[in-house]
This record gives sequence, C-alpha cells and structure tokens, in this order.
Amino acid sequence: MPLKNLAIFASGAGSNAQKIMDYFQGHPKLKIALVVSNKDEAGVLEKAQKLGVPTKIIPKSTWSDERFVLEALSAYHIEGIILAGFLLQIPGYLVQAFPQNIINIHPALLPKFGGKGMYGPYVHQAVKQAGETQTGITIHEVNEVYDEGKIIFQASCNILPSDDPEAIAHKVQLLEHAHFPKVVESYFKA
Ligand code: GRF
Repeated sequence: MPLKNLAIFASGAGSNAQKIMDYFQGHPKLKIALVVSNKDEAGVLEKAQKLGVPTKIIPKSTWSDERFVLEALSAYHIEGIILAGFLLQIPGYLVQAFPQNIINIHPALLPKFGGKGMYGPYVHQAVKQAGETQTGITIHEVNEVYDEGKIIFQASCNILPSDDPEAIAHKVQLLEHAHFPKVVESYFKA
C-alpha cells in the first residue's frame, strides 16, 4: 500500500511537530511530507529541515489565494493536515478540500477555554483564573469555526493549588507530546 502523505501546519516553536516528525520516521503507512508555516522565523522550520522534511512558508496575506495554497499541498500529494500550534484560521476552501482530514490540538479540555483569543499562555492563564482543578488536551477535527469540530481524543491532568500558569502549561505539554503522535497515527492510518 502506498504511503499516505500528511502536512503539519505550525506557527511557532514546533515541539509537537518535532514529536510527530520523530514518531513517523520510517513509518510503514504515514509520512510527514511537508511542514507549512505562516511565519518565516518559526522554529518549526529548522526542526523540519534537520530531518529533511520539506518546508513551505505561506504568509498570512497569501492564504486567501485558494489556488496557490491547494497547489502547494497537491505538489506534495498531501491527503491530511495536522495543525500543531497554527495560529491562523483555516480558510473554508481548505476545510472543503480536506473533509474530515484536518485535525488540531488544543491545550485545554474543550468546549471550555476555546475560541478566539484562547491560544498559547492565554489558555492556561484563563484556566488558572477560573480555579479549575483539571485541565488537559483536546484533539479535534477542524471545521470552519474555531475549536468546534468533532472531538477525537481528550486527556486530562490535575491542577494543584500551587500550580501557576507556567506549571499548568508544562503539564499540558507533556500530555500533548505523549498522545498527539499516536492519535495522528490512529486517525489517519485507516
Ligand atoms: C500547543 O500547546 C498546542 O496545543 C497549541 O499550540 C501549542 C504549540 O506548541 N495549539 P509547539 O509549537 O508544538 O511547541
């Protein structure tokens, strides 16, 4: 059976992208064939290049160019997209071109603490401020509304009263790194 090619979209450091690229090195069914970023200084680009994964920078202003974006993905025969810290809204044409083939990771237990403005440290600050005793990760399908696609997987961790937002972020990141590659595998290998 031929490999299924996947793209990772990321805007930042790319620690999740790194875990995913490591996990799929030499995988018999799935291949990370492309890393796309909207930021030319994103740390994820160097991580991909070190592993020989092709990279493509598509700046914010170019995402409205449907033909350009779809051709960039089809040049690498991309069949599925993994959002790993990608901060732009996914355009509707992309959701339509990849139905049920785009997934995202969110650093909280959706439907709580999702939506516009809920990214990076803001999520963990809001969780702390709300006095939550648990947080976690949500991996979900992407539709045209922020953080509202079907939930595929969640994992949770406890929050101690002494945990500040940085401590919460660290616990959540451990969950992300432990689970995201395996969830990607089971979701896309079918
Ligand atoms: C992760 O916390 C992820 O849940 C969120 O963005 C962050 C990306 O971190 N969507 P990294 O770039 O993978 O380190």
